[in-house]
Amino acid sequence: MTNKLKYFIGNWKMFGDFNDFKIVNKINKFTQKSKNILKKKKVILCLPNILIYDFNKKLKSKFLSLGAQNCHPHDKYGPYTGSVSSFMLKKAGAKYVILGHSENRSEGDSNILIREKIVSALKQKLNVIFCIGETLKEKKLNKTNFVLNQQIKHSLSKKINFNKIIIAYEPVWSIGTNKIPNISELKVIIKFIKNKLKKTLKIKKSPLVLYGGSVNSNNVKLFSDIKEIDGFLIGGASQSSNKFIDIIKNYYK
Ligand code: PGA
Repeated sequence: MTNKLKYFIGNWKMFGDFNDFKIVNKINKFTQKSKNILKKKKVILCLPNILIYDFNKKLKSKFLSLGAQNCHPHDKYGPYTGSVSSFMLKKAGAKYVILGHSENRSEGDSNILIREKIVSALKQKLNVIFCIGETLKEKKLNKTNFVLNQQIKHSLSKKINFNKIIIAYEPVWSIGTNKIPNISELKVIIKFIKNKLKKTLKIKKSPLVLYGGSVNSNNVKLFSDIKEIDGFLIGGASQSSNKFIDIIKNYYK
C-alpha cells in the first residue's frame, strides 16, 4: 500500500438537513481515531450551503474539513437572486468548493463560466475541486482525451495558484450508475490528465487528480492498483457515515 497522502472527499449533492450532523460527527470521530493507523489521508465533506456554518461551528475539527459544491463567479455581493459567492462560502466556514461538476455543466456551466468561478474561489483562498469528465456519447466516439483537454485548457490558466487546485476525473457515465471504468484504461486516462496539466500549465509537478463515479466499499480497493490516483470524490456513498467509513477502511485493507 502506498504511503502517499490520499483524499477522500464526500459530495452530498442535494441531501441533508440539520439532524444529519450526526453523519459528519461519526465520520469525524472515525478520522480522528484512525489518524495513526491510516495516517496519510485527508477527509473533506462538501455539503449544501445551508449546513456549512452550523456544522462547522459544531465540528471544530482538524481532522475533517467542510466544503461547498458550487459558487457564483461574482466575487462578493451582487444582484444575483438565489446565488452564493465564494466570499460568502468562505465566511460560512467552507475550505473547499467543487466546481465544474457534470450535474452543473448539464445545467449550463460552460468551461468559461467554470474558469470564472475558479478564479473567484481562488481569490477567496478556497481550495478548488475541479471536475472534468466525458459523457458516454463522447467516450463512444473516442473523444475522451479531446474533451478532457478542452475542459482543462479553457478553465485553467498559467496564472492561477495550482497548489489550491485538485482535479476530480469523473466520467459522466459513471456517476450514480454503479459503473466504473476499466482499471487499466483509467490508469492511462489519469496519466494523460496529469501530463496535460503539466503541459498546459507549464509546471513540473501535476496537481492532484482524484477519481469519482460510483465509488463504493466493494470497488474502492480496485483503484489502489493505480498509484497515480490521489484519492476519490464520493457522491451517494458519502451520505451514509457507515458507507463512507467503509470506503476508507477497505481502501487501506
Ligand atoms: P457517485 O457521485 O459517487 O454517486 O457516483 C460522484 C459525484 O457525483 O461526485
